[in-house]
Amino acid sequence: MLKAWRLSLVILAILFFSVVATATEVHLQPDFVRLDRVTAVQPLANGITIRAGAAVLHITALRDDLLRVRVAPDGRFPEDASWTVLTASRVDAVNVIAENTNADVGFKTAKLRVTIHRDPMSLRVTDLEGRVIVENFSPRPIEYHEHAFRVYLRSPEDEHYFGLGDKPGPLDRRNASFANWNTDSFGWQESTDPIYKSIPFLITYRGGISTGIFLDNTWRTSFDFNKEYRDAYSFGAEDGPLDFYLLYGPDAKAVLASWAWLTGHTPLPPLWALGFQQSRYSYYPESEVRRIADRLRSEHIPTDVIWLDIDYQLKNRPFTVDPERFPHFDQMIQDLKAQHLKTVLITDLHIADLPGANYKPYDEGQTKDYFVKNPDGSTFVGTVWPGKAVFPDFTRQAARDWWGTLYADFVHKGVAGFWNDMNEPSVFDVPSKTMPDDVQHHIEEPGFASRIASHLEVHNIFGMENSRGTYEGLLNLAPNLRPFVMTRASFAGGQRYAVTWTGDNASTWNHLRQSIPQLLNLGLSGFALSGADVGGFAGSPQPDLLTRWLEVGAFEPIDRDHSASGTHPQEPWENGTPEDVNLRRRYIEERYRLLPYLYTTTEEMSRTGVPMMRPLFLEFPWPDANGSPLDFGAGNAFLLGADLLIAEAPFPDELDDYMIALPPVGWYDYWTGARIEPAKGGADGKHPTEVRLHRELDTLPIFVRAGAIIPEQPLVQSTDERPNGPLILRVYPPTNSGEKCSGSLYLDDGVSFAYKQGVFFRAAFTCQLMPDGISVRVAPASGSFAPWWKQVSVEIYGATKAASHATVTHLDGKGGALLPTAFDVKQHRITASMQDEGKGFEMKLMY
Ligand code: GLC
Repeated sequence: MLKAWRLSLVILAILFFSVVATATEVHLQPDFVRLDRVTAVQPLANGITIRAGAAVLHITALRDDLLRVRVAPDGRFPEDASWTVLTASRVDAVNVIAENTNADVGFKTAKLRVTIHRDPMSLRVTDLEGRVIVENFSPRPIEYHEHAFRVYLRSPEDEHYFGLGDKPGPLDRRNASFANWNTDSFGWQESTDPIYKSIPFLITYRGGISTGIFLDNTWRTSFDFNKEYRDAYSFGAEDGPLDFYLLYGPDAKAVLASWAWLTGHTPLPPLWALGFQQSRYSYYPESEVRRIADRLRSEHIPTDVIWLDIDYQLKNRPFTVDPERFPHFDQMIQDLKAQHLKTVLITDLHIADLPGANYKPYDEGQTKDYFVKNPDGSTFVGTVWPGKAVFPDFTRQAARDWWGTLYADFVHKGVAGFWNDMNEPSVFDVPSKTMPDDVQHHIEEPGFASRIASHLEVHNIFGMENSRGTYEGLLNLAPNLRPFVMTRASFAGGQRYAVTWTGDNASTWNHLRQSIPQLLNLGLSGFALSGADVGGFAGSPQPDLLTRWLEVGAFEPIDRDHSASGTHPQEPWENGTPEDVNLRRRYIEERYRLLPYLYTTTEEMSRTGVPMMRPLFLEFPWPDANGSPLDFGAGNAFLLGADLLIAEAPFPDELDDYMIALPPVGWYDYWTGARIEPAKGGADGKHPTEVRLHRELDTLPIFVRAGAIIPEQPLVQSTDERPNGPLILRVYPPTNSGEKCSGSLYLDDGVSFAYKQGVFFRAAFTCQLMPDGISVRVAPASGSFAPWWKQVSVEIYGATKAASHATVTHLDGKGGALLPTAFDVKQHRITASMQDEGKGFEMKLMY
């Protein structure tokens, strides 16, 4: 009896579990959905709609090389709105050709093929040669757990991953996982995640082919590369839309151009943003600011900017000035200007909670009801630098517009730029370091339905929208001045409003090392104008570290020396011998000589989306024998623009020699002008040239690509100063005739938008090898901006003997003049100078 009872229980259990097991095909539990079988298909002009049970998938082509995938697990899509993707791009579409077989369904564009396997359901995108771009990882393609979702993609073992913003760690994201939740991370280390920014955008690389993937979801998102599954990478979010874009290259440069098309270009910054910038938490009182300015000038450290941190403010209250510490604040700004120094002020987003105290930001914001609310309708109050503080609701256009007006006084006083810090947002004395999850934000925004959103949805875009308010406010206040805003927190697309930095790093060799992959990945995420606090923020750098950091920083997009309160002073003349100071000055000077190249590269970045600071694979996307990017042996090497390769040591404090594998084109030593002997087999496009480098404090190894023409200028002490002397064109002849040899130069007034009306100067340079000489051609410039020079000095590098003679033909008619030349054996250089103001010429130099 007992046995029979037990038996029936077992049978019942088997029956029960087999029913559940059948149900697992679609629903493991009511809250679990896996999209595993196509149940209906509807072709669209620009893509396809697929049903998988209750779920609906939309796959559409915005362009032939750019797809969008949206999934609604219950068939209901959320509103089609985005903080990141430009509306004009989002609504773009191309026609596709539907494809349909028994097993598969999908479509084809002029560049890509989309195939959805029906059962089990699986998405695969290939190029038209059949190379897989992305492919679902079976058996787990796409799944939902309540509101959370995850998309799994197959990861071939020779695929590599880049991007995701400022996240620390190696350049390649493979074998790591990350969360996106903007976090004030003072004291972050190499393994800290998350830190300040959320940029759910990655770039894959496999055998020279790259694709971008952007998950357009502002909630807490996460990315896993080969940790959960060795053969898969995945991305997901705890809530919000499953809405992602695929940006096909074929190379990473093309992906970045598409990324800029999708999310916006970085506006051209003012030229002074490329100068050296001196900051500290904090310079005060006023006499200290003046002392620093005087010292920068008396030490002849070329500098453009002094930054004032929170202590210029009265009790750390944004938009105030402490009248005791800064009795002549307005005059100080003017006096700094007279010394050719711009002032950048910090203006954090937390407004001191000061009812009835005549504090305008609080009074106005409260009257207009612009502050973030608790669920009970009261204003949310959190503690930050000023003590108790309230926070503008930056997801309301009206609140942002109002925020922008707060800058009026400072702009009228002549303050040049602004710094939006603490905008993760940072809140002290709470374990989450930020606002509670349930505070309420209003979304009142063109393109969005008006509604109340929880902090969980808004958190990651709060900082971006803060910097947007600042940027747009500044544009409003001074419509013909290029705004300069630096933000700490941001989101994908935030490059439209602000430059950024890597937050509170530390004065250690490892942080110097770490800054390079971090800035490279920021550039690969759209944030090209980035810097790391030079010298390190927390702690005091050893003299050698400060020297090295100032050397490397001179070749990075934003070059700002910044340090924490209580640390040893960190200006270039501090903490070192006179030799150290000379070295530090020498590298900053080199940056200023390179300004024409740096600015030209910046303008290219702004126009094309390709960052100034580039990993080698961006210029040399060729795979090695294992399919890896060629520069994987290159440690901390990076390119500034297309042509300068900065070969910092993989571990900059180690005394050992290190190897650098120069990509297989010709190279020159930037410092000596000597040609680098190519690897066996020559600069054949196949074999990298291995160079052994010895770490010396006085030389940061820099190589120039053969075939480059680099424009330089005479030394100035700030970008205000008009260079006095010739434009210098450094010509690095190609290895073989017929190979590319070119360069270009872009100039404008550096501050206004007149360039949009044609007030710029753009010239292209080319060179050509001749049987026993070289010709250099400077094409007539376009644009109406008058350059500073009357003379051009052409420098041919790699020279081992003097020229026999040189002639110049001016393209405006005057021709055939013989030119004197000079040979510098140590610099491997022949120099010839001629009159020219942008009309163009051709110079022939015979050996
Ligand atoms: C934050 C910033 C730092 C700044 C400090 C004081 O820590 O990251 O750069 O100096 O706040 O404003």
